[in-house]
Amino acid sequence: MPDSSLLRFEAVAPLRAQGAAWRKAGESVVLVPTMGALHAGHLALVARARELGRRVVASIFVNPTQFGPTEDFSRYPRDTEADLALLAEARADAAYLPDVAAMYPPDFSTRVEVDSLTQGLCGQFRPGHFSGVATVVTKLLNRVQPDIALFGEKDYQQLQVIRRAVRDLDLPVEIQGVATLREADGLALSSRNRYLSPEERRAAPRLHAVLSAIATGLAAGAEAEPLVAGGRAELEAAGFSPVQYLEVRDAETLEPATRASRPVRVLAAAYLGRTRLIDNVAALRA
Ligand code: PAF
Repeated sequence: MPDSSLLRFEAVAPLRAQGAAWRKAGESVVLVPTMGALHAGHLALVARARELGRRVVASIFVNPTQFGPTEDFSRYPRDTEADLALLAEARADAAYLPDVAAMYPPDFSTRVEVDSLTQGLCGQFRPGHFSGVATVVTKLLNRVQPDIALFGEKDYQQLQVIRRAVRDLDLPVEIQGVATLREADGLALSSRNRYLSPEERRAAPRLHAVLSAIATGLAAGAEAEPLVAGGRAELEAAGFSPVQYLEVRDAETLEPATRASRPVRVLAAAYLGRTRLIDNVAALRA
């Protein structure tokens, strides 16, 4: 059962009142936005939030506007009570569970579009996804008004898109990325890993292995193109189909990179059966 010291908010007004009281007491607030189905990766974000600020708010909202019509919105895992218990255990101060009808009233008509960073990678395969993410994150930031908000680096393009939206819209919050948490075999933790069959689960760590091998090659001065071609073939041989993208991009601008003369990221999205996995690895850290 959730610890009774975890506050739970569904409406904006009491959430805002609590935030105002904390700020009046000189207490900083860190937001961890999530879509629930919490795992150790989310809890690492909460632990980091506790290091960075006095009060930690975690939001749980499966945001319909970031799922395409053929994506897994309806089957996205939901277990609010388990999530609340985990947040209490991780000693978050509050859980914010917005109501979908209040988040998106029938005449909702405003969206946040980040042009330049959303054209390739996931943006190419998930039209409208980043607009849905940027819009809901902007709303969550406006509602919670945190000093800092934390996002996992696993969704690297998302992190860069959010950074840009916050900068461009002058939102008074600091965005911080947190390193991806991995299973012992390298698989990045993700709420979607629970969809994998045992056989797919055995193949899944190849994604990280291939990304790491490319990053190592780049760090040693090799050209991206042959590394990427070899990596793609290896993923396909391991059963990933389709490999939507496997690319080397500038770590900040996400422009395509041919070698690691500046910090770059190797990023991929690929399906194992019906499950879409994404991951990325740094070659030369910023
Ligand atoms: O990364 C996620 O879980 C979601 O995209 C986010 C940032 C909570 C927005 O819905």
